[in-house]
Amino acid sequence: MADVQNGDFCSRNPLELFEQVTTQGEKVRSLKAEKAPKDEIEAAVKLLLSLKLSYKTATGQEYKAGSPPTDFTPVSNGPGDAEDEDFVDPWSVQTSNAKGVDYDKLIVRFGSSKIDKDLINRIERVTGHKPHHFLRRGIFFSHRDMNQILDAYENKKPFYLYTGRGPSSEAMHVGHLIPIMFTKWLQEMFNVPLVIQLTDDEKYLWKDLTVEKAYQYAIENIKDLIACGFDINKTFIFSDLDYLGTSPEFYKNILKVQKHVTFNQVKGIFGFTDSDCIGKISFPAIQAAPSFCTSFPQIFNNRKDVQCLIPCAIDQDPYFRMTRDVAPRIGYPKPALMHSVFFPALQGAQTKMSASDPNSSIFLTDTPKQIKTKINKHAFSGGKDTVEEHRKYGGNCDVDVSYMYLTFFLEDDDKLEQIKQAYTSGALLTGELKKALIETLQPLIAAHQQRRKQVTSEMVKEFMTPRKLAFDY
Ligand code: TRP
Repeated sequence: MADVQNGDFCSRNPLELFEQVTTQGEKVRSLKAEKAPKDEIEAAVKLLLSLKLSYKTATGQEYKAGSPPTDFTPVSNGPGDAEDEDFVDPWSVQTSNAKGVDYDKLIVRFGSSKIDKDLINRIERVTGHKPHHFLRRGIFFSHRDMNQILDAYENKKPFYLYTGRGPSSEAMHVGHLIPIMFTKWLQEMFNVPLVIQLTDDEKYLWKDLTVEKAYQYAIENIKDLIACGFDINKTFIFSDLDYLGTSPEFYKNILKVQKHVTFNQVKGIFGFTDSDCIGKISFPAIQAAPSFCTSFPQIFNNRKDVQCLIPCAIDQDPYFRMTRDVAPRIGYPKPALMHSVFFPALQGAQTKMSASDPNSSIFLTDTPKQIKTKINKHAFSGGKDTVEEHRKYGGNCDVDVSYMYLTFFLEDDDKLEQIKQAYTSGALLTGELKKALIETLQPLIAAHQQRRKQVTSEMVKEFMTPRKLAFDY
């Protein structure tokens, strides 16, 4: 989705970063002393803050003037030194570009691989099916070791799927469906077991929630997951609060990860600081452990060698970089990954959506009228200010959120292309583009709500029961 640009990447060297922060700090001070124009000072301060953040991410330490870094881990998820560099970690996404994050740069910085035409063709050959539109349109754009998974599949060696969801509120929004829909497609293509982790423990630690509330959100979210149509005979869905208490094998894997990752490493990877609670610091081990098949002895019959494939949004990668680093040291295969882009907020691709702002996205609980109003009122438009100008110059699909949403949800390639042409040429007006999105989402969400109504508490219980699935190991 983003253009290929090879700019300068951030310096990963903590000492260099330290010097950059110091120089930038001096610049801000002298601009202020000179009473420079407000916007110049603001821009310099913004750069200073982002440099400080890079420094903290790279070293796990706060920048302190006059104290160069001492003990650091060179694992970095940090942003670059340029003002326009994106920042991505599991808790925040920042970019100044209206088109959204530059994903090609992210691939280089995270050290993953692009899902290119060759890989997509191979997936098509191996599965015998047309690739999902998320693959065709670059929505799942990056991977780690996907060729290994395909080799295994071709050699009739088993693998399994793992994905997850942090239940931060009762209602999920359409963006949450992206990895879920793709995971379902993968499961159907490859006919493999799937485990879905609900990190209610994580949300308890990070949000202002009681343990009980977090668990209740997990159950409500599980109903939405079930409504997506997963096969009950092939899928195990669990809440951490539940499963951890009943599975010694899961806990043993958590413990093994905990023993092999230092505080310094998680500081470097996740930006934790000395004042974060110890629950947060040890949580990454809990998200790592389902990547190892022995966490599910009931499914894999105590086999140790079944490889895992994790479809997830790219912001979850830090967890799995850590997991892949630990895996060989504790005797397991490294999990493979497929990464998706972020789903843009209605207000524009600069931000990740927030479940707490009802106007930042379309929720699975929205009525047809709410969907219509939200899109008409809040979806950022790439159209021109007046009809005359729009007809003359055309709209910009690259920044138009309604168009972006259609790339996620309108499966028909020809129709999407027609819309793009018409909008870009100015023949299609913003209101008409929004109408196309409204008409795509309304039936999709109504159908979801219908299916969710059919989900009974017995079904929830069954999906959540540790049990053998329809596969023999
Ligand atoms: N941390 C994720 C979130 O907040 C939830 C999660 C747990 C997850 N395990 C995962 C996401 C595996 C993707 C894949 O949403």
